[in-house]
Amino acid sequence: MACVIVVGAQWGDEGKGKVVDYYAEQADAVVRYSGGSNAGHTVIAGKKKAKLHLLPSGILHGKRVFVGAGVVLDPKTLLEEIADVEKQDIPVKLVLSERAHVVFPIHRELDELQETAKGKLAAGTTKRGIGPCFSDKAARFGIRVAELIDEKALKERLKTLYDLKQKEVECVYCGKPKSSFDAVYKEYAEYGRLLKKYVGDVSVEVNDMLDNGESVLLEGTQGAMLDIDHGLYPFGSSSSVIAGGACSGAGVGPTRITDVVGVVKAYTSRVGEGPVPTELSGALADKIRENGGEYGTTTGRPRRIGWLDCVTLSHAIRVNGITKLALTKADVLGGLKEVKICTSYESESRKITENPASISQFAACKPVYETLKCWPALSGKEWRQACAAGMDALPIEFRAFLLRVAELARRPVALVSLGPDRADTIELKRVF
Ligand code: GDP
Ligand code: IMO
Ligand code: MG
Repeated sequence: MACVIVVGAQWGDEGKGKVVDYYAEQADAVVRYSGGSNAGHTVIAGKKKAKLHLLPSGILHGKRVFVGAGVVLDPKTLLEEIADVEKQDIPVKLVLSERAHVVFPIHRELDELQETAKGKLAAGTTKRGIGPCFSDKAARFGIRVAELIDEKALKERLKTLYDLKQKEVECVYCGKPKSSFDAVYKEYAEYGRLLKKYVGDVSVEVNDMLDNGESVLLEGTQGAMLDIDHGLYPFGSSSSVIAGGACSGAGVGPTRITDVVGVVKAYTSRVGEGPVPTELSGALADKIRENGGEYGTTTGRPRRIGWLDCVTLSHAIRVNGITKLALTKADVLGGLKEVKICTSYESESRKITENPASISQFAACKPVYETLKCWPALSGKEWRQACAAGMDALPIEFRAFLLRVAELARRPVALVSLGPDRADTIELKRVF
């Protein structure tokens, strides 16, 4: 029995989907525990490909998949994803938590209005209604999957929600509601009917699997710097995406967790607003963005690019209790003049080794770099061949980089990913 959490150790888009897909072969089930359709996880396995927002990345293996209570659910997106996967002749063995909250059109409307109202504090959200839905959950106005599939309960709860939220649109934001209770009720009652067959108690089923000696993978969304408590507030997202959130979001106690794998991209990317100490600009950023295809999976926005930041990485390691690393996308940097790693910050002539909570203090942090030799640019085919041959076949400069990252992080690298496909992977230490 193993129960492994995979988390993003940076600002999201580290390659969690790819890593989860790789590990899913060894697990019996995969559980999504946080976020909503703001997440975009790309999974490629030969001819099979999926861009997943809500379905767990184990889906391409045809494994059992769960969407836990910690997720906010956009039913339309989920139904579209199910249809996409079924089109590829992959069976969907899904259990959807009756406790997961539902995102309604009014949440997306409010997301837009609130972003405008926030001015320079806007996070540059994905406009998927995530913040407003989590706000309603915390304020206990929210509507869960249990009510979505119960027409009478849905009608009552949705009426209250719409009456209130439409007033908010009109009176607080001086807007005009775009969605109406009648139309939304009709549309969502139908989603409830379509999703009913998947609904169950995720916590009971996952814990039963663990009791029976089966192995479970808990798939994170976003990254530590976007976590509601430990991320760069208010520029992050609205859920608990760290390993602690995996326990509450899936309904699995911390005593069952056997490993926490932190996914680390060999550089930094950020989609959205707020300070990023190691951010690059100009031709170098453009080159890395193009080589790495760094455009948002959910919104298509170009991602901001920076060097690897080991200050935020050690923050992620501490708040998640990361035991092992999965290092991704170093192939993208191949052929650069040099690579840099930020080992500490400097602010007002002081050395800073922990992320300040204050935005202004964080924004004032200047990165202190260590410079390493870069490895050559290899083609996708060459990286794949090197992956098949094992670590000794990889360029010596890359191996030195990997050792330095492990040393700075004080954690071993368990998995190396050097291309988007499942085959472009080397497993160095087992977690299952
Ligand atoms: P996630 O949100 O953490 O799952 O990451 P995304 O899927 O949003 O973004 C990662 C992107 O990089 C996807 O397009 C992946 O197919 C791709 N990718 C993942 N691992 C690697 C890798 O090691 N090398 C390269 N070149 N691409 C990768
Ligand atoms: P995955 O799982 C990268 C960012 C948004 C914005 C902030 C809040 O693919 O790594 P939200 O819509 O959640 O209210 O936006 O968080 N953000 C992400 N950035 N990857 C993600 O998910 C993200 N999910 C949200 O850009 O700055
Ligand atoms: Mg993503």
